[in-house]
Amino acid sequence: MRTDTGQIVHLADYRPTDFVLERVDLTFELDPTNTKVEARLIFHRREGVDPTAPLVLDGDELTLSGLLLDQNEVPTSQYDVTPEQLTVRDLPAESPFEITITTYINPEANTQLMGLYRTNGIYCTQCEAEGFRRITYFPDRPDVLAPYTVTIIGDKAANPVMLSNGNFLGGAGYDEGRAFAAWFDPHPKPSYLFALVTGDLGVVEDTFTTMSGNEVALKIYVEHGKEPRAAYAMDALKRSMKWDEERFGREYDLNIFQIVAVSDFNMGAMENKGLNVFNDKYVLADPETATDQDYANIEAIIAHEYFHNWTGNRITCRDWFQLCLKEGLTVYRDHEFSADMRSRPVKRIAEVRHLKSEQFPEDAGPLAHPVRPTKYREINNFYTTTVYEKGSEVTRMIATLLGRDMFKKGMDLYFERHDGDAATVEDFVKCFEDASGRDLTQFSLWYHQAGTPLVTASSSYDQSSGTFTLSLEQMVPATPGQSTKDPMHIPLSFALILDNGSLATPEGVTGGEVTEDVLHLTERRQTFTFSGISSRPVLSLNRSFSAPINLHFDQTPADLAHIARHDTDLFARWQALTDLAMPNLMQAARDARDGKDVTCDPALIAALLEAAADETLEPAFRAQALTLPSEADIARELGSNNDPDAIHAGRTAVISAIAEAGEKSFVHLFETMKPEGAYAPDAESAGKRALRNIALSYLTYSEGSPARAAEAFASSDNMTDLAQALTLLAHRFPSSSEATSALASFLTRFDGNPLVIDKWFSIQATIPGADALSRVKSLMENPRFISTNPNRVRSLIGTYAFSNPTGFNRADGEGYRFLAEQILAIDAKNPQLAARILTSMRSWRSLEPQRADHARAALTTIERAANLSTDVRDIVERMLK
Ligand code: ARG
Ligand code: ZN
Repeated sequence: MRTDTGQIVHLADYRPTDFVLERVDLTFELDPTNTKVEARLIFHRREGVDPTAPLVLDGDELTLSGLLLDQNEVPTSQYDVTPEQLTVRDLPAESPFEITITTYINPEANTQLMGLYRTNGIYCTQCEAEGFRRITYFPDRPDVLAPYTVTIIGDKAANPVMLSNGNFLGGAGYDEGRAFAAWFDPHPKPSYLFALVTGDLGVVEDTFTTMSGNEVALKIYVEHGKEPRAAYAMDALKRSMKWDEERFGREYDLNIFQIVAVSDFNMGAMENKGLNVFNDKYVLADPETATDQDYANIEAIIAHEYFHNWTGNRITCRDWFQLCLKEGLTVYRDHEFSADMRSRPVKRIAEVRHLKSEQFPEDAGPLAHPVRPTKYREINNFYTTTVYEKGSEVTRMIATLLGRDMFKKGMDLYFERHDGDAATVEDFVKCFEDASGRDLTQFSLWYHQAGTPLVTASSSYDQSSGTFTLSLEQMVPATPGQSTKDPMHIPLSFALILDNGSLATPEGVTGGEVTEDVLHLTERRQTFTFSGISSRPVLSLNRSFSAPINLHFDQTPADLAHIARHDTDLFARWQALTDLAMPNLMQAARDARDGKDVTCDPALIAALLEAAADETLEPAFRAQALTLPSEADIARELGSNNDPDAIHAGRTAVISAIAEAGEKSFVHLFETMKPEGAYAPDAESAGKRALRNIALSYLTYSEGSPARAAEAFASSDNMTDLAQALTLLAHRFPSSSEATSALASFLTRFDGNPLVIDKWFSIQATIPGADALSRVKSLMENPRFISTNPNRVRSLIGTYAFSNPTGFNRADGEGYRFLAEQILAIDAKNPQLAARILTSMRSWRSLEPQRADHARAALTTIERAANLSTDVRDIVERMLK
């Protein structure tokens, strides 16, 4: 295991390498426990570099077994080597030279799943961020780009498929029993985009003709027998390729594009050049085993990895501080793609729900960091929702500030100017400045200042002058390492909604810049005055969530209901309903804690039921409207001294009140919202199922019986409905015989399909209440739970810690103690996975004192444990600081 080295990397220390890498030639002789890697690297000394400077290469747990310089053995006096570093001295001052390095590695023993490892008999690699150095000594950093030739030699019978990046050169029998294959990737790439996959896999094939007429072979590799479940992924891939041509003018650049689905993977997927490797969860789907959400995820992630071909691969990052350059931008691109494929407002609602539930807590807690950080200890811990999702929001704001056409000009300039580069965030922003002539200096603070800005708004209307005045104040909270902040440039989309629902068009605005429907808040305090407004308007602010901020605006329930009814921006209508619900839910939590009766404002109930029944609205939107803020959302709004049991009790009481009042409508929706015909995963049918299922969920409260959910479970013909019915049975009636028998029949029916069994684990891990812990413990004893498989670990332990507020935050602290033990056990094998799951405790300081004490004690146990990985040490120390 790799234990902590404790070094902090600073952006300010960046400097280019002394040597330029010209070419890479790799030969792998595969063996499960002793794979031979020969790397031939051609370098030349960069101009102006000290002619005596040595070549320093990175390694990680490596043993050197051969070192040649221009084919001659290098005397031991000429180099130093440790498992982490190889330093070679006395190299040519000017002419290029060739270094040949031989290492032997053990893929079978690689439980970190970084570098070359084995999964279900398949050899597979994951090199981002610093996995390549576990394969050979190398300048393992993203600003070192070279074309790669890769030769793979391996057992013929076990490895009929042998893949690497780029175009296939050839392959055949090598000697008795062994085969070889050779690949050449002409596009210079950094080592983190290297990939190798071999094994006995099935393949689904198709083709795509690019806009300039090149035919690209498309191949998706899966385990034998699973080919039919890759059809949707293939369809999503072709749509992604087409969309990127149409929307961003980006064409694919090799004659083959391959995707491999593997069952052991630390993350969602990886954009290796021409050879994407995926967690099989994000490839495999059919109606019987995948939910609508699974289909939507597959579509988004296939698109995301494909889009990286330009934003990430053709233009990569200069260093890992620039991670958001590829990730934030690519998330923005996949969001836009999904919005075009599905319903734009419904997609936006889902994005904002996710942003608020994952990124806002990160930005408000001990792990807060800027979108473009300036230091890190373990780069794997910076693949965060801040870099990804807030990074996407920042890109989205550039589009909002500049408008669609200027944004496109800026993107075109970026692709033109930086193709082939390892670029920086500054390079990216400069393209938009140059394309638009707009100064983005203040705007760039979004990359550099952590914390979610808080905007406080107040407004007044003066009938006699026909003016509407809006006062805004912004505050960016202090975050670790950043105690004072400068005012940000915050683009706020707005509308003034009149009594009859139409939008007012002001004659003039003073107090700051306004472009189209966007107010530019740039000062700490700013007052905008709109003139020519004939009657009191209702202000809808931050429409479409144009800026990722917290907004405090004391709007009356009547005004919110007016927005919910009339705004032309559907997102804003949803937001208004949420704003209407939130104070109710917060008060409910307080009342529940104080042992008082919980009440629900009839105006909230009326607004929700009105939206639910409004047939002019798409069902998916109506389902979102009925889905109240989560317990975690309420905890975030309350901010401190949180008691998860009280929040749960309060929210449950509010739901019950809505369920009672709306029972008739819910029965109607449940009976009518059934998509016609056989299951199809399209957004419209998915929307109907979502609306029907949320109605069913309310009915379990008003009817107080598992009967209807049990009947839905028995009669469903797709995984979306089945999983939802099972969830309701298990969560609402955990001790009923209906729940027990549904869980048992689900297990029998899907035994042998681990991705479905993951749902079975997750549903049980999230049953509310203190008993969840003993349930999770006994599920860990189930033979289907494989403690080395990241999907199993996430679906049981991860889901329990992240998504079961009452079960995990037991008042006696047992949930935290359990997690601490698990983190240490996981860390010994897979530090990245352990560190990720540990972030579930990032909001521990906002718990009530007794729970917070237990949480601190559990974190301290982790901190004091011997042999912690850098990954876990970095997280736990930041959380305790
Ligand atoms: N670049 C991948 C993606 O977002 C994620 C890889 C993350 N890998 C890691 N070791 N943290 O598409
Ligand atoms: Zn990505």
